[in-house]
Amino acid sequence: MAARKVVLIEGDGIGPEITKAVLRVLDAAGVEIDWTRCDAGISALDKGEEVLPAATIAAIKEHKVALKGPCTTPVGEGFSSVNVQLRKTFNLYAAVRPVRNLPGVETRYKNVDLIIIRENTEGLYSGVENEITPGVVMSMKVATEKACLRIARWAFRFATQRQRKSITVFHKANIMKLTDGLFLRVADLIHQRDYPNIDFRSAIIDAGCMRLVQDPSQFDILLLENLYGDVVSDLCAGFVGGLGVVPGANYGEEEAIFEAVHGSAPDIAGKNIANPLALLMSAVMLLNYLAENDKTSIYAQAAEKIRAAYDQTLLDGAKTRDLGGELNTEEFADAVIARL
Ligand code: NAI
Repeated sequence: MAARKVVLIEGDGIGPEITKAVLRVLDAAGVEIDWTRCDAGISALDKGEEVLPAATIAAIKEHKVALKGPCTTPVGEGFSSVNVQLRKTFNLYAAVRPVRNLPGVETRYKNVDLIIIRENTEGLYSGVENEITPGVVMSMKVATEKACLRIARWAFRFATQRQRKSITVFHKANIMKLTDGLFLRVADLIHQRDYPNIDFRSAIIDAGCMRLVQDPSQFDILLLENLYGDVVSDLCAGFVGGLGVVPGANYGEEEAIFEAVHGSAPDIAGKNIANPLALLMSAVMLLNYLAENDKTSIYAQAAEKIRAAYDQTLLDGAKTRDLGGELNTEEFADAVIARL
């Protein structure tokens, strides 16, 4: 069988270091993927290309699947986020971030097994910002019935396939009665009409966050609009060891891009100390996606082998510094490879 072609975007900051480490682990596990390397972000600009080159878009269109390192977005000025552009270009409307306790990674929270599903295409990320008059600016929060329906259906279907018990929507529909009101109403409708067996709950986001930090194990799937999903993902990462251990996937109808929740971490870039695990876990999600639920597929088997190896690595106390260990990026990859 010919190796599957997958687009690889190293990204900015720690992106190249963690990508290199992840590719070494995948190679050592015998994963047969024909990587098509593409640029995006500051690293593309540095090569004199567009921030999101047409060749990158064309490659994702052709191969449908990508593994992506983080891309830097300038704060308060400059180009608009490459990550948001990619999600919009390919209509990657469902972002999925599993947040679980890992063996050997002690945190103050036990039994965390959350899945965050974030609507990825609208809300305040619509990019509609105006200066009305000097000193007065506005940003428009957009919610469409089509996108609310699409993500609600996706979330309930996912919950059913994964045999999850409940979905909780965090919202602020008491204040944003139209936009958050629509998101909540549509999710409730899909629940009542199509998925009555899945427990459906909702919480006003401020109170929901308080309950979440008190005891995250009381939640199962969290369904959130774009900005809330972004913020709550990082909050939840804190329950299980931080941004170095939370993977993610962005799914559309045709394409899927797998990337860690964290950003380009400019504060530690180039030092070979970043934790490559979140990107490695994202690569495991990618392999399972390529396997299409066939547990006998070579991709599913490789995914399981890598997962078991990084679990054992952590159990043996071999960790990067963000998890209280002493290994650098490359040493952590070596430790995982030794346990494959
Ligand atoms: P960040 O996630 O890059 O970093 C936050 C903190 O977590 C930093 O102290 C960093 O050192 C640490 N950290 C992150 N990943 C780590 C890892 N793998 N190992 C060890 N420590 C890690 O968030 P920040 O600083 O807010 O954003 C930096 C840049 O990344 C910005 O330009 C932002 O726009 C971009 N970004 C890109 C994302 C993407 O490509 N999907 C997602 C989030 C942010």
